Amino acid sequence: MRIKSFKLSIKLRIALLYAIIFSFILIVLNASVLYGLKYYLVYQAFDDIQNQSDVIVEKLKEVDGIITSVDKDLLFGSSIGENMYLKIVDSHGKIVYVSSPHLIDIPYDKNINVPTKIEKDETHIAYINRKYTFGNKFFYIQVYEDLKNQYFFLKLLFVMMAVSDVIGVLVSFFAGYFITGRALRPVDYMVREVHAIDEKKLNKRLSISGNNDELSKLAATFNDMLDRLEDYFKRQNAFISNVSHELRTPLSILKGYIELIDRWGKDNKDVLEESIGALKKEEQEMEILIERLLMLARGDNKTLNINKKLFNVYELIAEIVRDAKVIFNGKNIEIFCDKNLEVYADRNLIKELLRIILDNALKYTDIDGNIKFYAGEADNNVAVTIKDDGIGIPEEEIPYIFDRFYRVDKARSKETGGMGLGLSIAKLIVELHGGSIEVKSKLNEGSEFKITIPKI
Ligand SMILES: Nc1ncnc2c1ncn2[C@@H]1O[C@H](COP(=O)(O)OP(=O)(O)OP(=O)(O)O)[C@@H](O)[C@H]1O
Ligand SMILES: [Mg+2]
Repeated sequence: MRIKSFKLSIKLRIALLYAIIFSFILIVLNASVLYGLKYYLVYQAFDDIQNQSDVIVEKLKEVDGIITSVDKDLLFGSSIGENMYLKIVDSHGKIVYVSSPHLIDIPYDKNINVPTKIEKDETHIAYINRKYTFGNKFFYIQVYEDLKNQYFFLKLLFVMMAVSDVIGVLVSFFAGYFITGRALRPVDYMVREVHAIDEKKLNKRLSISGNNDELSKLAATFNDMLDRLEDYFKRQNAFISNVSHELRTPLSILKGYIELIDRWGKDNKDVLEESIGALKKEEQEMEILIERLLMLARGDNKTLNINKKLFNVYELIAEIVRDAKVIFNGKNIEIFCDKNLEVYADRNLIKELLRIILDNALKYTDIDGNIKFYAGEADNNVAVTIKDDGIGIPEEEIPYIFDRFYRVDKARSKETGGMGLGLSIAKLIVELHGGSIEVKSKLNEGSEFKITIPKI
């Protein structure tokens, strides 16, 4: 329900915005048309009264200023235009001619020769005053035009414009509302489709129109996100089932030996000792598994503590190699490293990391395998490469070896033992230090793991 009102308000908002902008443009356009037209009509009226007054002056000239004896209506009246009025006053201030008895009183001896406009309430008048001199006498001539027709026309135009503006704005509002509604309809579909997706239907995807518009991009982005979520869910589920499996195997072994002790171990010392040895081994493996799972969980939750300090890299490698040699006696391990090489990192974590890589190198080489450690620094980084001449990794498997519980050859690696967690922990440690890990490997020729971490 909330989503619906939100969608409506977007439609309304867009339609309103369009209507407001449109009406603003209309008002500006109409105002400028009206103002321009008014200016033009007044200017025309000025022109008319100017011409009219010229004609009157000419007529006065014709009769030499002697108008007492002539028929004034005949002389002037014929040339007075529609809505125009004429007043002639002599030098004593005596009105000698008016074209109509209802003339409006306008001062006739001011603003001589300047066309002027009077706007007062409903009265709109354009007038001009002239002064005609002959000998030592003169006349004031006043011509004015009532602009009621022009103003009536302007008013009519204003009303027509206002009506058509209101219609235009309403049409633009409803058209905007309708068009936006249509444009947003796919959003409606999308909302419904997204609603239908939950953790049980994570494989569903939004349909994407071929328009490559904003909405199809949004749908594609949604789908990308769903791909990632689905992938994450799948990995999470696989992780949980792997964990259960890895815990079940040692548990059933523990159970088997406990039963063995229960049945035979009380009397048979050999069985007892063998069983206790096996129990210890299984217990250790379970401890390692749980330790590693905890570490991965802390890594996921970003709660893994990292305690950096400066330490000697050579000494650390030598220490790991010494420990390894105790277990893998026949193998040949060489170290190529500057004895003063130092790095600022978490020593325990780096030790675990190198141990994991070395452990793999030892596990996946023949009994007389050769392993080489190269360590050095370049570009403010310390790089450690561990190279073996063992069984190698098929090229197509390399992208997966850092995945949790991933083991290349499940059957083969049964003999070597292991859970497939080593490299995922190695990757976690490298990432925690802001470094990188690269693998080069060839089947039956050997593998090379290069770890690079910032020196400080
Ligand atoms: N140096 C190597 N030579 C050949 N294969 C390797 C090497 N290092 C890793 N692998 C392959 O990558 C897989 C994943 O390694 P990883 O260390 O994560 O797991 P593991 O060694 O099988 O078990 P774990 O380390 O948890 O005891 C291994 O099972 C193995 O198939
Ligand atoms: Mg391993």
